[in-house]
Amino acid sequence: RDHPACRISVIGCGYLGAVHAACMATLGHEVVGFDVDAAKIERLSRAEAPFFEPQLPDFLADAMSTGKLTFSSAPSSVARATVHFICVGTPQKRGENSADLRHVDAAVATLLPYLKPGDLVVGKSTVPVGTAERLAAQITATEPAATLVWNPEFLREGHAVHDTLHPDRLVYGVPEDEAGAQAVATLNKVYAKTLAEGTPQVITDYTTAQLVKVAANSFLATKISFINAMAELCEATGGDVTQLADAIGHDVRIGRQFLNAGLGFGGGCLPKDIRAFMARAGELGVDQALTFLREVDSINMRRRVRMVDLAREVCDGSIVGRRIAVLGAAFKPESDDVRDSPALSVAAQMSLQGADVVVTDPQAIDNASAKWPDLTFVSTVEEAAAGAELVLLLTEWKQYVRLDPAALRQCVKVPRMLDGRNALDPALWRAAGWTYRALGRK
Ligand code: UGA
Repeated sequence: RDHPACRISVIGCGYLGAVHAACMATLGHEVVGFDVDAAKIERLSRAEAPFFEPQLPDFLADAMSTGKLTFSSAPSSVARATVHFICVGTPQKRGENSADLRHVDAAVATLLPYLKPGDLVVGKSTVPVGTAERLAAQITATEPAATLVWNPEFLREGHAVHDTLHPDRLVYGVPEDEAGAQAVATLNKVYAKTLAEGTPQVITDYTTAQLVKVAANSFLATKISFINAMAELCEATGGDVTQLADAIGHDVRIGRQFLNAGLGFGGGCLPKDIRAFMARAGELGVDQALTFLREVDSINMRRRVRMVDLAREVCDGSIVGRRIAVLGAAFKPESDDVRDSPALSVAAQMSLQGADVVVTDPQAIDNASAKWPDLTFVSTVEEAAAGAELVLLLTEWKQYVRLDPAALRQCVKVPRMLDGRNALDPALWRAAGWTYRALGRK
């Protein structure tokens, strides 16, 4: 079936916006991606992804070759579009838990002069509950016949293209009036192909839509910290957290996904989202409802400390002056994102404590060395492992999980492996003569 095309602008071309723009163009819409960062726009205009995301380069190139997708750093480029997606970041404020909304406010300010009657503004950024209501008032004060929809995004980095084209669900927060009904109809046109696949849809109010997003991320973070708390118990008792996760995961009410114990969660979303959610709950006078998230956060941060302690333990009490190889710098595999990376936080801590740390990663070295100039980075596992007395697997890239223990043994000085992600087969590594230790496992 043929679906009519829409004219779309995507404001903010970071991890979320660049992927969203490429995917919307792939669905057949006419899309312009706008960003204030001219260097980013220049790269995107050459169909070059400004960050590592599987599949994105191909989707960019295809969409741009059809002429459906263009990029611009000129605000007026959004004027032709009738559906405007807000895809800017909402990082954690420096020294505070709350979210920094300056990019969202700037995006709306950019858009306001170009809004026309009937335009739809679609918020995708993760925001503190109450933001959409405030932005809607601002929008209708300027253009009474424009409508805001809150349409949170649930994509995972590393799977962003797939998650955008085939989301688990579509959530629309709309005003409860005729304008809201009209907005649903318009957004349904944008997502017609996705909806035709039978994607579940939840149509609700602004408040609920904003809460859905942070509730989902809080639940995921809680699941990870739950299993990491069980890992602490396993460490104290001699249990095995991976078998425990398998066993409880067979209960379909629990489910095995997001029960991988290890170094815990990082990245640009889960850590700052739970903190911003707690901060917002405090402002709303319901901080008690979310005090458990403080525990979720501290269990998570404790894993990093435990990892460094374990490194010291296996090095007979001291890591000072020891050559340590760290495999992984990105906050998770299939990403070059180093925001709040547990791997880098452990590497930096060991370096600070006097170890001679060498870090490698298949994609994230440029980002990592820009942010952590005092750490040493090399491009291959062999270079990192050369002469090492300890190897730490901290980001479970496929190529690291598939390493041959016998071959790696030839590079190192002492064959000691700390598996921070419970990603390796202990029997295999031990059989090859390695001392193998992991979080939450004997
Ligand atoms: C997360 C959510 O999964 C997305 O649904 C959401 O859209 C996104 O945040 C967002 O708010 O933008 P993302 O941060 O890309 O996505 O990565 P995840 O796959 O959720 O992983 C987050 C962290 O948890 C990683 O550091 C990962 O290593 C860790 N993790 C994940 C575990 O430690 N154990 C697990 O079992 C799963």
